[in-house]
Amino acid sequence: MFKKILGGLLAFGALALGIFLLIAWESSIDPINTANPGAFSDEQIRRGEVLAGLGNCETCHTTDANKPFAGGRAMPTPFGTLYSTNITPDPKTGIGQWSESAFSRAMREGVSRSGSHLFPAFPYTHFTKLPDDDISDLYAYLMSRQAIQAEPPENTLEFPFNIRLLLAGWKLLFFDEGRYETVSSKSDEWNRGAYIAEGPGHCSACHTPRNALGAEDTGKAWEGAIINNWYAPALNASNPTPAGWTETEAYQYLRNGGSPFHGVAVGSMADVVHDGLKRAPDSDLKALAVWLSDLAQAPGEQQASERSASAIRTVQNTQNPSTVMDEGERLFTYACAACHYNEPETPNTLRPDMALNSAISAPTPVNLIRVTLNGVSLKEGIAEAMMPGFGEALSDRQIASLLAYLRATHTDQPAWANLEQQVRDQRP
Ligand code: HEC
Ligand code: HEC
Ligand code: HEC
Repeated sequence: MFKKILGGLLAFGALALGIFLLIAWESSIDPINTANPGAFSDEQIRRGEVLAGLGNCETCHTTDANKPFAGGRAMPTPFGTLYSTNITPDPKTGIGQWSESAFSRAMREGVSRSGSHLFPAFPYTHFTKLPDDDISDLYAYLMSRQAIQAEPPENTLEFPFNIRLLLAGWKLLFFDEGRYETVSSKSDEWNRGAYIAEGPGHCSACHTPRNALGAEDTGKAWEGAIINNWYAPALNASNPTPAGWTETEAYQYLRNGGSPFHGVAVGSMADVVHDGLKRAPDSDLKALAVWLSDLAQAPGEQQASERSASAIRTVQNTQNPSTVMDEGERLFTYACAACHYNEPETPNTLRPDMALNSAISAPTPVNLIRVTLNGVSLKEGIAEAMMPGFGEALSDRQIASLLAYLRATHTDQPAWANLEQQVRDQRP
């Protein structure tokens, strides 16, 4: 009896393994002679360039600015470090021998030309939404880049995460292959924005928390997440902004890297704006803004500016110059307030107002700490504007009391815990 059960279990196990291998198995696609860049029209290459910008391909696939798309960028994951690959048309180390169908399979199914499964750090879970035309345009753009010979370093993933075949199981659980589906109840512009956000722009790859196996937690879609040691805020209605993400605000932020009622784009979001979105036409950014303000359930423009003015006024009214200042307030007054002062009716993006700033109302202080320590470079935020860092001038304790003061006086959010330790953790 026992033997029979065991035998049955074994047979079942073998069958399951067989089925798994059958699903997991992907064939290799034959190499081609490197595609002739002359085969693509300028128009197609230009469209591909915009898509590559929306998809941030260059940001992830470049380590040395003189070798664009040659790969090798380290992507730390909880399971070890993964390196991006060379996607220039170099035949040996890049994708020069890839036919368009091999490229399309990689983008939409996460399978390399050789047949091996690709790690979802490459956001094919989003690129799968791209229609044929967009795939062709991207292929034309990449195949007409300069071929660069460069081999990325070996991945250092721990066992069993280094077994690519197991990714087939991951895909069964977490990956839905398929193109973007138009939502008929929404406008064309909204659908364009949603397509960019979910497809090439892969916005939720950073703005949605991930589960223990590294997949986006769809139950917590758009609720904000820590990524590369920055906090990517919630983009849905749970975003704690006092003013809301109206279309005007969202458009300005995505186009210029900052908006008057929110502050500026630093960290990975600076790459998204300045390396990626900058190539996209206004119509695409307006479409994204339409989609985003709907997701965020933004108030009307008039209401947003009233809320913003009232947030600034509330802070100004509570500041009483006759009282003795505590350490945090004193530091803010001398170190920050000269640059961060606004009239309630006309807040200026070039001196982000602390009563409106996302970094101060966020559930975690990482962005505020990093900006205070390191400042904002000319490349981040609003281009050509900068802020000095205070990491040298102020101690961990001083920064902690300054930020605790800002949190307590400029928002209605609960205090952050262990601030001083958190400041120490963010020091280089
Ligand atoms: C968030 C970082 C990231 C972004 C953005 C990104 N990639 Fe990648 N890509 C990777 C990583 C990492 C790999 C390697 C995955 C692996 O080894 O399994 C990869 C692999 C690939 C591959 C497979 C190459 C091979 O040799 O198997 C192709 C093709 C590719 N990416 C194209 C693109 C294109 C086109 C874009 C933009 C539309 C893009 N990637 C955007 C990180 C990224
Ligand atoms: C590589 C990760 C990453 C990707 C991809 C990304 N973001 Fe972000 N995003 C961030 C980070 C980090 C911040 C916080 C930046 C800051 O505080 O200055 C941010 C901030 C924002 C903000 C401001 C939120 C606030 O409350 O201040 C908006 C709006 C936004 N992103 C929209 C988008 C859109 C739309 C996309 C897709 C086109 C996108 N993001 C893609 C990482 C990312
Ligand atoms: C010399 C002027 C100056 C001083 C002093 C200064 N800032 Fe800034 N700050 C700026 C400018 C300009 C920006 C916008 C930078 C950009 O867009 O590139 C900025 C941006 C910021 C942001 C926005 C980041 C975001 O994610 O939106 C925060 C937060 C901030 N500053 C906090 C502080 C704090 C705290 C102090 C004092 C310790 C301080 N600043 C002192 C000029 C200054």
